[in-house]
Amino acid sequence: SAEWCYQSQTCDDTCKDPSRWAALFPRCGGLRQSPINIVTNKVHFSSALPHFSFIGHTDLINITVENKGHSAHFALPESVRLTGGALPGHYRAAQFHFHWGERGTPGSEHTIDGERFPMELHIVHIKEPYSSLEEAEHDMAGIALLALFFEETADDHPHLDTIIAALGQVKNNGSNTVIPNFRLSYIIPAASELHSYYRYVGSMTTPGCEQAVAWTVFHRMLSISSRQLDAIVKQCRFWTGQPMKNIFRPTQPLDGRVVYSS
Ligand SMILES: *[C@@H]1O[C@H](CO)[C@@H](O)[C@H](O)[C@H]1NC(C)=O
Ligand SMILES: [Zn+2]
Repeated sequence: SAEWCYQSQTCDDTCKDPSRWAALFPRCGGLRQSPINIVTNKVHFSSALPHFSFIGHTDLINITVENKGHSAHFALPESVRLTGGALPGHYRAAQFHFHWGERGTPGSEHTIDGERFPMELHIVHIKEPYSSLEEAEHDMAGIALLALFFEETADDHPHLDTIIAALGQVKNNGSNTVIPNFRLSYIIPAASELHSYYRYVGSMTTPGCEQAVAWTVFHRMLSISSRQLDAIVKQCRFWTGQPMKNIFRPTQPLDGRVVYSS
């Protein structure tokens, strides 16, 4: 049976790498695909991009972590939500996940003026009242994705070791664990510190590449030490059993879209 994979996976003809996703998932060949390279001297300034309001980010929550075969998802309870940011409605958080490279090789999905960053955090939100991605994907802004880049720092990030340990508990496809008593605010800064961002319309970056995403890429970066970066890329395995590394889709053509900047 045909499956999709990342470029880093060598599965000969049994899986389709990003250049061939559209053969299995036609929407991956669409004209509003993500990720993109953001060219900063071509972005349009918009005065109509206010800050967000985060709800439930400081609450203690239990997070279920599952190895999905292509990446690991951190499922969030319905109490975590957001509004504002010029999005058309209220959105509830569904999950967050990371895109990484390998030791010494950056692995963000978006790039800024061609620069790739060590890692990228995606927080996936679904517009209310939809209850699933399947329902939300018929609405051009049915999904709100927040993206934050990581930059390598000398000091450890104080809360990433919890994330790394959880990934170590879900080495193989389908395995899961729970991170008890975590606060999203441990990794995501307060909305008041996230007023600068890029906005464009795009897609999910994994098949089926649904073109229903209002993307927000923040200027503010998160920190990760080189020790944590080396550790995080070593924890999991793909559904094929190979080390889960370089889990990012190549950047896609803009095809006439405009990237706005707050
Ligand atoms: C988290 O899980 C623990 C143990 O199952 C439970 O006692 C606690 O109430 C849960 N916390 C939340 C916020 O759901
Ligand atoms: Zn993602």
